[in-house]
Amino acid sequence: MSASHDTGRLRALARPTSFTFDGERVEGELGEPVACALVALGRMPWARSPKFHRPRGPACLRAACDGCLARVDGEPNVMTCTVPLAPDMDVRTQNTLGSRTIDLLRITDWFFPDGFNHHELFAGVTGVQTVMEVFARRVAGLGRLPARSVATKPASRRRLDALVIGAGPAGMAAALTLADRGRAVEIVDEGFGAGGSLRALHEAEMPRIHEVGHAFERALHGGLVAARTRAVVGAIFERDVLVVGEGGAEILDPETLVLAPGAHDGVLAFEGNDLPGVMSARACATLVGRGVRPGDHVLIAAPGEPSPFTRSIGRILSGTGVEVTVVEEPPVRVTGSSRVREVELGGRRVRADLCVVDVEPSPAYELAQQAGATLVHEPRGYVPALREAGRIDARTWIVGESAGARLAEEMIDGVRAVIGAI
Ligand code: FES
Repeated sequence: MSASHDTGRLRALARPTSFTFDGERVEGELGEPVACALVALGRMPWARSPKFHRPRGPACLRAACDGCLARVDGEPNVMTCTVPLAPDMDVRTQNTLGSRTIDLLRITDWFFPDGFNHHELFAGVTGVQTVMEVFARRVAGLGRLPARSVATKPASRRRLDALVIGAGPAGMAAALTLADRGRAVEIVDEGFGAGGSLRALHEAEMPRIHEVGHAFERALHGGLVAARTRAVVGAIFERDVLVVGEGGAEILDPETLVLAPGAHDGVLAFEGNDLPGVMSARACATLVGRGVRPGDHVLIAAPGEPSPFTRSIGRILSGTGVEVTVVEEPPVRVTGSSRVREVELGGRRVRADLCVVDVEPSPAYELAQQAGATLVHEPRGYVPALREAGRIDARTWIVGESAGARLAEEMIDGVRAVIGAI
């Protein structure tokens, strides 16, 4: 069987590789996130919600939603935005009865448009309850267990000088500043490589942040900083920092700990905001930055000032034939059966196959809370409340968007000031 060619690309594949999707041989860019390859191939949606089987699409491209789950090489519930495409990968939709496009279990959604509590469904009705229990056990849950189990390995323990969590703009600036001061720095990030939000920015946006990225690459290659990517920091407990990645689990005890996990994409409440094709501006900028044509008619709802991600999208899609419309008003609803087809704004309807939401992000506060920070609630979300800029305790610091700063070139000065105070 020959590989079918992608149709949703802004440029030709530089390193084409073939893989299978639901048994069909297809092509993508070697090393790109599998989710990007599937969007480019026009396979959205490929995931379903576990209970009502509503179609799901990638909304964040950074491991923060359930819109991109698939079975990859026999492993269920893989966030395909976190996995680099490799030759002959076997990617399959899961959690459907029928096919990717026609999931018979979607009937649940139509029967119960207002939702239902499955714990109480037919409870106490003799006979029917038993039948429903058997049925529910067969259809509930996400995916099937892998054919092979993976042996567990104990986590190793290690002490180190300085650990930075998050290799986005703030984390890279923090690591560079620490390295400049002679500290032995390690940095961990769950992405494919360093960069974080920087990877979604057009090179003309925020040149000082791009400079930080270039300097970080040089420091990495020069051995001044050690990086571990595709590794998740699972928890901070007293002095222990649990890091889990491809090489196994480690419990680290750093002399200095700097948190820079960034921010969660902001969301807007409107009807249909879970439809495939609704995504954050950062996710859309990531797609187009990787050369994926995200749709034909892109509507960007930016109620505040458009972010650098929206500006990057405009720059990259200019002249490509993709229609980009930026509006200030939030959508009232989006409609479409398995993907956005139309966006309703106050009093008018706009044809769109992508509805991009560009609102203020909320700090990724979770690790700061585990490290002992007190949180205050603001309209944008929880923000660490700190008595001294950037300081949580004697060895733990927090910088960048996770500390409440806005993604801007000036953020780098704030990071350097905090690290200079350590
Ligand atoms: S988790 Fe992959 S797109 Fe959100």
